[in-house]
Amino acid sequence: MKKQMTELHQTIYNQSPQTVIFVPGRVNLIGEHTDYSGGFVMPIAIDLGIYAAISERKDSRIDVYSDTFAKLGIQTASKPYQYHPEKQFLNYIEGMCSVLESNGHTLNKGLSISLYSTLPSGAGLSSSAALEILIGIILRQYNQLKIDDLTLVYHARAVENEYLKLSSGILDQYAIMFGKKDHAMMLHTRLMKQAYIKINLTQYTLVLMNTNKTRKLTESAYNDRFKTIKEGQKYFSGPLDTVSYEMLLAKKTTINNDIIFKRLAHVINENQRVTDAKKALLANDYKTLGNLMNASHDSLKTLYEVSCEELDFLVDAHRQHGALGARMTGAGFGGTMIALYKAELPCFEALKIAYKKRFNYALEIMVTSAVSGPHIKEEL
Ligand code: GLA
Repeated sequence: MKKQMTELHQTIYNQSPQTVIFVPGRVNLIGEHTDYSGGFVMPIAIDLGIYAAISERKDSRIDVYSDTFAKLGIQTASKPYQYHPEKQFLNYIEGMCSVLESNGHTLNKGLSISLYSTLPSGAGLSSSAALEILIGIILRQYNQLKIDDLTLVYHARAVENEYLKLSSGILDQYAIMFGKKDHAMMLHTRLMKQAYIKINLTQYTLVLMNTNKTRKLTESAYNDRFKTIKEGQKYFSGPLDTVSYEMLLAKKTTINNDIIFKRLAHVINENQRVTDAKKALLANDYKTLGNLMNASHDSLKTLYEVSCEELDFLVDAHRQHGALGARMTGAGFGGTMIALYKAELPCFEALKIAYKKRFNYALEIMVTSAVSGPHIKEEL
């Protein structure tokens, strides 16, 4: 890939890059919609991601070309930084510049950047968080900013929360920055305590299927879930991740609101499932892990109501195909689902055809592995 990135950069800027960096995407094995209430998540960084080739400029402009948005040509990050949907990927670049500057950092190095992504964008595999972390790392490196990795993760999240006004948690940016080859991470998002757990993707296989469904209402529905959980938190004096299902049941009549109760039930049980999934992985018990993934999906479908017909169709199909577990991953309402299989995969050709016939979207199938966080290409 280094060669291709060098060629791309030369074609666009007529210059050789000084550095090539790869930043992975992420997939969450279990622990969905738990991170914005301090709960548990268990992601892996995946081998699909974004590559950047970088060279310094004589002026102080930040120029970025993205192969995914080739039609837009070279874009320049310019002040005043302001979100606009038409700016597409540039919003994340300007968002990161804005967050870094408002945190007192000076960005005066001119850079020419070329991007190439193997991560489908808007597919629930964190292409936005990957871009935020990637740009953060580049700006840090070239402007010699003193920012540690975890602070950079918080800055990347601030791009979502403050610049794009999306109330997302820390899952995506954290998983991307701290991913470890052949390991999943269990993160307690309230205490920011984390453990790596070995995942055996030699005897077991993780399949990703991108529904290719355009996710229109994701942002408003996501912020809506965030508000409901905040509302639900008020019924408990301690943090939600310390609340058991029994404690929730005892409050059912006080809560007296079916929606709040259902949403809380999902989060509380999902937190427990992540803890159980960690035990299962440590015990090499992939059957239990699969069952927990299935239970997670069913809860996201019926209690949290963030699944959709396409995701449910694929999850059901995997269960019929003999998957140990299958579930949606990420925010939901479309995007990608994940299935866990033992050893050999079944043939998915008939499923592809049936999916296309039913929903008129192409089904994208990817087999993935757990990789390490951002690395300079020479080290790969
Ligand atoms: C999105 C958000 C994450 C997390 C997931 C759902 O990916 O960015 O913070 O809330 O949805 O688990």
